[in-house]
Amino acid sequence: MARMRKKKNLIPRTLACADHYFDDPKANKGNWRSACNMPEGCQLFVEIGCGKGMFSEKMAQKYPDVCYVAIEREPSCCLLAMERAKNADLKNLFFIRGDATEMLEFFDKEEVDRIFINFCDPWTRQNKPKRRLTYRAFLDMYREVMRKGGQIHFKTDNDPLFDFTLEELAASGWEATCVTRDLHHSEWDSDNIRTEFETKYAEQGIPIKSTVAKMLEK
Ligand SMILES: C[S@@+](CC[C@H](N)C(=O)[O-])C[C@H]1O[C@@H](n2cnc3c(N)ncnc32)[C@H](O)[C@@H]1O
Repeated sequence: MARMRKKKNLIPRTLACADHYFDDPKANKGNWRSACNMPEGCQLFVEIGCGKGMFSEKMAQKYPDVCYVAIEREPSCCLLAMERAKNADLKNLFFIRGDATEMLEFFDKEEVDRIFINFCDPWTRQNKPKRRLTYRAFLDMYREVMRKGGQIHFKTDNDPLFDFTLEELAASGWEATCVTRDLHHSEWDSDNIRTEFETKYAEQGIPIKSTVAKMLEK
């Protein structure tokens, strides 16, 4: 994937989005809802690799009572996503400018209700399965931070990555439901929010693969 060029005025533009990120997100571990001024009983959704944040913005709009936290490690992408949140004046959308490998430092046990992973890097050409965000070590981390009834919502354009993900889920105590290899022509599309990459792949006629994985008992 082509790397995004560093944005002009990255620092002042980032500072202007201060309501949507935390200088030390690890300090919020176990405390995200109150840190985000959201009710203690609300659900916490986490998106990994939000890119430019179109999906994050629409999800936060669709679920105003949910505390929505998006993780993005590329500063220029994260900036664009934060600017979307600011421009839309969303009070429930926050960002972690960081890496999902540090998940256990960001979130406490049983703090998260849902995780969204959309069009993550497949690492197929380089054959590096352990770097895939659905490798079993990642799934075990997600389990650790999930509340009972937790779900992972996963979408990809990539068949080998989808097959790999279904295998890893089955091996790691997750039940893959709503499995489809053509989301846009499935019964689940009416509820679907498209991401930037999803829109691009759909325009190219590439079918989107997706599943909602449910956590089996811990
Ligand atoms: C292919 S893009 C997809 C962006 C968006 N989800 C979409 O569907 O349009 C993958 C994004 O995930 C981010 N990413 C990849 N690995 C990550 C990680 N370990 N932690 C946080 N972000 C990550 C990348 O920087 C990139 O912005």
